[in-house]
Amino acid sequence: MGQGNHDGHLGAVYAAQNQSDLAAHYDRWATSYEAEMAVAGYRNPTICLALLTRHLPRGATPLLDAGAGTGLLGEWLGITGYGHVEALDLSPGMLAVAASKNVYAALHQLALGGKLPFGDGHFAGIISAGVFTSGHVGAEGLDELIRICRPGGAIVLSVKTTLWDGGFAERIGELAALVELAEATEPYVSMPGEAGTIPSLAIALRRRG
Ligand SMILES: C[S@@+](CC[C@H](N)C(=O)[O-])C[C@H]1O[C@@H](n2cnc3c(N)ncnc32)[C@H](O)[C@@H]1O
Repeated sequence: MGQGNHDGHLGAVYAAQNQSDLAAHYDRWATSYEAEMAVAGYRNPTICLALLTRHLPRGATPLLDAGAGTGLLGEWLGITGYGHVEALDLSPGMLAVAASKNVYAALHQLALGGKLPFGDGHFAGIISAGVFTSGHVGAEGLDELIRICRPGGAIVLSVKTTLWDGGFAERIGELAALVELAEATEPYVSMPGEAGTIPSLAIALRRRG
């Protein structure tokens, strides 16, 4: 699958061979991640937040920031009126930076793609920026997010177009009894300052029920 042509930390995470390799790369990147992504003009969290505000009422709670990283979204969710946000991430180093912001009600070091330790319909909304991408999480991460989202709730994700075209859109079609594709953006470049970035799109799923 295409992953673009990137150097440094970004190149390393896109090229990770397995989850422990990926977590180790993110652990090393954690303290400089936000500064480097600011230089790259990183837009996924902003676009996902915009979609969430259109599909989930202010104050809906609890929320899950899935693949929260250093917690870019956590603070903005609070500012825009969403309380009790929990962070989930593979990388303890990224979660440690997120924890230092004191904006998350709970932090979970867990892997998307397998079974998650939350009850059916537990979260009113789920947001995931920059996670459904090359070498990270694919369509195999969808089923559990859908299971833990309450009926009527919203799941907002950014998805690399290579994933989208490589089976993700098809999987959403297969899950149509459980979720409706409420909105999808046009493809956009998530890091305009980083040459060779493969476009992403952002989607809002409505949990049926
Ligand atoms: C590009 S960062 C995005 C972080 C944050 N959402 C943001 O937009 O700044 C991707 C994050 O996904 C996490 N991640 C990658 N694979 C994961 C998985 N299978 N389960 C949970 N987190 C994962 C990484 O540790 C990293 O923190």
